[in-house]
Amino acid sequence: AAAEKGGYDYFMLKEIAEQPKAVADTLLGRIDAGGSLRLDEVRIPVRELREVDKVVIVACGTAFHAGLIAKYAIEHWTRIPCEVELASEFRYRDPILGARALVIAISQSGETMDTLMALRHARDQGSKVLAICNTNGSTIPRESDAVLYTHAGPEVAVASTKAFLTQLVACYLVALYLGQVRGTKWGDEIQAVIRDLSHISGEVERVLETMEPVRELARTLADKRTVLFLGRHVGYPVALEGALKLKELAYMHAEGFAAGELKHGPIALIEEDLPVVVVVPSPRGRSVLHDKIVSNIQEIRARGARTIVIAEEGDEAVVPYADHLIRIPVTPTLLQPLVATVPLQVFACELATARGNEVDQPRNLAKSVTVE
Ligand code: G6P
Repeated sequence: AAAEKGGYDYFMLKEIAEQPKAVADTLLGRIDAGGSLRLDEVRIPVRELREVDKVVIVACGTAFHAGLIAKYAIEHWTRIPCEVELASEFRYRDPILGARALVIAISQSGETMDTLMALRHARDQGSKVLAICNTNGSTIPRESDAVLYTHAGPEVAVASTKAFLTQLVACYLVALYLGQVRGTKWGDEIQAVIRDLSHISGEVERVLETMEPVRELARTLADKRTVLFLGRHVGYPVALEGALKLKELAYMHAEGFAAGELKHGPIALIEEDLPVVVVVPSPRGRSVLHDKIVSNIQEIRARGARTIVIAEEGDEAVVPYADHLIRIPVTPTLLQPLVATVPLQVFACELATARGNEVDQPRNLAKSVTVE
C-alpha cells in the first residue's frame, strides 16, 4: 500500500501533488497549434450545439462546485444562459427542459445515483446530455449522448482533489468549444485564455511549491471549532469547496459565503479570533469586486476575525488586513479557481492530520454514492 501511495503518507497527498499532471493530461491533444479547440469526442453534432438555448449542469458534492464555476465561464464566453443544480434536487422540481437544452452531468466516478437519475430525467425530456467524467466506461458516460473524459487518473482518497481541477479544465474546454462552434465573442480575450489555460499546469505546480506556510498555519488551528470561507464571483464556489473539504476531512464546522452576502447575515457570526479564509479576486479587470472584498476583509478584521487571505501575487491592497497571506499566481479571472483551490485542499488535509483524522477514509463518507 505504501508503494501505491508513491511515498506519500496518504493518497490525498499524492493526488494533490499529481494535479499539475492531471490538468496537463486533461488538456492534452484538445487545443491545436493554432489555439483552436479539438473536442471530436463530444459527439453532439455542431448543428445541434449551435441551437442550444440553455445549458443545465447537474452534479453532486465537489463536482457541483465545478459546475458552479463553469456557469461563470459558459455565460461569459458563450452568452448562453446556464443553470447549475444539485443533481439530487433536479428532477423533483420538474425542470424546464427540451431538445434545445444541453445538460452537462459532472461526475468523477460516473456512478453517483443522484446524478444518474438527473441525466435520465433530462434525456426523457428530450435534452442532450454531455457527461464530464473521470472513469472510463462507467454508467453516467454510457447513458449520456457524449462524454468528455477528465484525465486525472484513478482518484482513491474520498475527498476529491485532482478530479476537481480536471473537471474545471473540462468545463472551460466545453465553454470555449461552445463559443468556438457558435462563433460568439471569439475575440482576443478568448485566444489569451486558451493560451493561459495551456500553461496553467505550471502555475498549479508553483502553488504546490509554496504550501509549507499553509500547512504550518493549519496545524495552529487544529483546536478551532469553526472556519468560515468567503469569496466572490468564481471565488465564491472556491469558498464553498474549501468549506466542504474542511467538513469532510477535519469534521469541523465550515461554511462558505458569497462575500457580498456577509452584511445580510453571516457577519453576525464573526467573533474574536474566528478564522476566516477569504479568496480575493484579481485586482486587474474586475477591480470593483476586488475593492469590495478588501473592505469585507477590513470589516471582519475590525470585529476580531483572524483573516487568512488568498490573493494574487502583486496584490498589495490586501496586505494591511491579512493576518495570514497566501499568494497565488496571476491568472485570467475565470481560471483563478485552478490555483486558488489548491491551498484550501492542503489546508484541510493538514488540519485533518493535526486532528488525528483518517485522511483518505473520512468517517461516514463514501467515494461514490450509488444510492439516492
Ligand atoms: C461523494 C464523494 C464526494 C463527491 C461526490 C460526487 O459524495 O464523497 O467527494 O464529490 O460523491 O461524486 P462524483 O463521483 O459524482 O463526482
